[in-house]
Amino acid sequence: MDLTQIEAVVVLALEEIRAAAPDEVALLRVKYLGRKGIISGWLRGLKDLPADRRAAVGQIANAARARVEEAFAAVAADGGRGVHRPTGFDPTLPGRRGYPGTRHPISHTIEVISSIFQQMGFVVADGPEVETDYYNFEALNFPPDHPARDMQDTLFVEGGRLLRTHTSPVQIRSFQKRRPPVKIIAPGRVYRFEAISSRSYCLFHQVEGFYVDTDVTFGDLKGAILAFAQAYFGPDVTLRFRPSFFPFTEPSTEVDFTCYLCGGHGCSVCKYEGWLEILGAGMIDPNVLKAVGYDPDEFSGYAFGMGVERLAMLRYKIEDIRLLFDNDIRFLRQFEF
Ligand code: DAH
Repeated sequence: MDLTQIEAVVVLALEEIRAAAPDEVALLRVKYLGRKGIISGWLRGLKDLPADRRAAVGQIANAARARVEEAFAAVAADGGRGVHRPTGFDPTLPGRRGYPGTRHPISHTIEVISSIFQQMGFVVADGPEVETDYYNFEALNFPPDHPARDMQDTLFVEGGRLLRTHTSPVQIRSFQKRRPPVKIIAPGRVYRFEAISSRSYCLFHQVEGFYVDTDVTFGDLKGAILAFAQAYFGPDVTLRFRPSFFPFTEPSTEVDFTCYLCGGHGCSVCKYEGWLEILGAGMIDPNVLKAVGYDPDEFSGYAFGMGVERLAMLRYKIEDIRLLFDNDIRFLRQFEF
């Protein structure tokens, strides 16, 4: 039995006793002072100590018992309520400043994007973040061993599953549940095994949009994206459609918006290009329609996916994506949505 140990136990006991709810006090008494309690154990153990230590340790142990008993007595005198006793209102105390929370800029941006598309008739849906290879790749026309799978650095989890690398799997899940017309917007979190920098993080958010019906054209796609760009950035925003490739669309395009931060002159956010790549899009590949049992001769559709962080960074002039994930309260308090 060591004196430091005794002191530590006493300090802990006093804290516990003071903080105990009324119905916990009796149990604590048993724990410390009961016949098989901690302090009684010490006193019983005295006889095994060398004679020259017995007196000193005995004195300390008895003092410890007295302090613990005193703490129980204080709680009892207090009506058995300890710190839980309501203390009444003291008008002389300074008030406590409350800091109401604010919407996170990413949540807010997702809401803004979703509401713009909802006004165009899109309905919001979502899907799981832990996905299967089938939904994340196979049904989206990525054949096994196809080099296009290298486009995404995937994080795998147990059971052969993976963290979705994009929101496109929600297309498949939605198509499986419905028949055209399907007009959906699907915001959500995605994950990639990527080097972290001011421009990329291992998780981020996308908004997926897709529309399948009879006679949906590339013109419909351009119209929807232009309408979105103007609603989000104002009527002056310019767009650049570049031909691209995605396994699940044909033809495919990547759409750039003028850099909002520098107005197209070049800055660190747009890597001095004046443009920011905002979304990928295209006409849904017939193979994808076939995979969900839609007849590609009867139906056509477009799809697009955009990065939410990029849109938020543009709008709020945030230069480093990591600020959106650090959750430093000093950063977040600047946004009052
Ligand atoms: N899933 C693509 C990505 O994460 C983005 C994308 C491109 C989505 C084209 C689409 C699309 O729906 O049609 O890089």
